Amino acid sequence: MNIVEIIKKKRDGKSLNEAEINFLISEYTSNHIPDYQMSAFLMAGFINGFSKNETSALTKAMLYSGKVLDFSHIKGNKVDKHSTGGVGDKTSLIIAPIVACAGVYVPMISGRGLGHTGGTLDKLESIPGFNTNLSLKKFESVLKKVGTALIGQTKEIAPADKLIYSLRDVTATVESIPLITASIMSKKLAEGIDGLVLDVKTGSGAFMKKQSDSEQLAESLVNTAKAFGKNCIAILSDMNQPLGNYIGNWLEVLESIEILRDGKKNDLTELSLILSGIMIYLGNKSKSIDEGIEKAIKILKSGEAFEKFLEIVKAQGGNVNYLLNPDSYPKSEFVFELKSNKQCYVKSIDSYEIGMAALELGAGRLTKEDKIDFKAGIKFFPKIGDLIKKGDTICILNSDSKEKIDSAKLRIEKALKFSETKTSKKHLIKKIID
Ligand code: URA
Repeated sequence: MNIVEIIKKKRDGKSLNEAEINFLISEYTSNHIPDYQMSAFLMAGFINGFSKNETSALTKAMLYSGKVLDFSHIKGNKVDKHSTGGVGDKTSLIIAPIVACAGVYVPMISGRGLGHTGGTLDKLESIPGFNTNLSLKKFESVLKKVGTALIGQTKEIAPADKLIYSLRDVTATVESIPLITASIMSKKLAEGIDGLVLDVKTGSGAFMKKQSDSEQLAESLVNTAKAFGKNCIAILSDMNQPLGNYIGNWLEVLESIEILRDGKKNDLTELSLILSGIMIYLGNKSKSIDEGIEKAIKILKSGEAFEKFLEIVKAQGGNVNYLLNPDSYPKSEFVFELKSNKQCYVKSIDSYEIGMAALELGAGRLTKEDKIDFKAGIKFFPKIGDLIKKGDTICILNSDSKEKIDSAKLRIEKALKFSETKTSKKHLIKKIID
């Protein structure tokens, strides 16, 4: 077998067999195929698509590129959540502590920023000292002791996704249902979980902009989870506007603190509680999803979840002083406040542009080698349907570069559409797929 012929086959719209896919993944993971050939293959696959059999073979090859964990010796259910990616989507930081407090184990393998979306690992690493690269032994010991542990793909678990994910991020090959399915499921099936909740995003800030495409992605993910014997529930949630108000790595940790510690209530709080409730239900700690949500609300209100968040950060080597005193975190050199010059209703928000504005400010990567500026990002306040008055703050931009602020400002102005007449609010949850 040779890689050039495999690329040619995909380029010409032909299907690959399981042996060819296994060859591709194992040779790439062992560094025998260079990034430029894998990039060519990914783009050919992105354009010509993959059949169901190819998607299934790709998922399996990526899953078995590393170890599949077995936590059956830990008594109790293990449940995780994964989002297909959005702007301002930081629910993992809120959910993991809440669900762990409810007595459900949450072994979480997450990703970094992808395209215009942020990633849980980058957000956690904005906390100085936080280690997302734990050994398997340490991952298990933190999970047992704390009830949850959050890591990335490693050389041992889902190594193929670790490599392909960072390549897709910078080669415009993210928005493909088969590639997203293989990426997400190769991580999640390796985690040793019993149940999985999928938050499939739809709208301008999601990878799938049309609801029908998001439904297709949800089906592909749920079918794969079920084929591997996992209990799985997917929700389709709105991504036509950023989730919560803060976008950018440290800013997203900050907003999580405002919810976990200070009781801030917004769409992010609502979605986090719903997802936690479903996880508590799948973890057999409630008889229904509604009862699970009630439990999640109580845990959040009691302050226990914030204490658990501190415990997680400590267990993974992070400096909790910044969480206890967020004002002490380093600040960006330039801060720009954009104000409204008229009274109007918010009609639509192109969340892709908001995500790209945050990336350009320094919160994401344009090449694999780019270093993230953890402080950079946007506090973004408008929600579709809101009435904005003249002088109201629309957003606050943070960056160490004045030029980046200027270009992010242009993107944001382009992304927002206003109306003089009342506009309607968006529904957060579009559908539940069981
Ligand atoms: N999340 C992932 O883990 N992978 C993708 O491809 C998209 C979202």
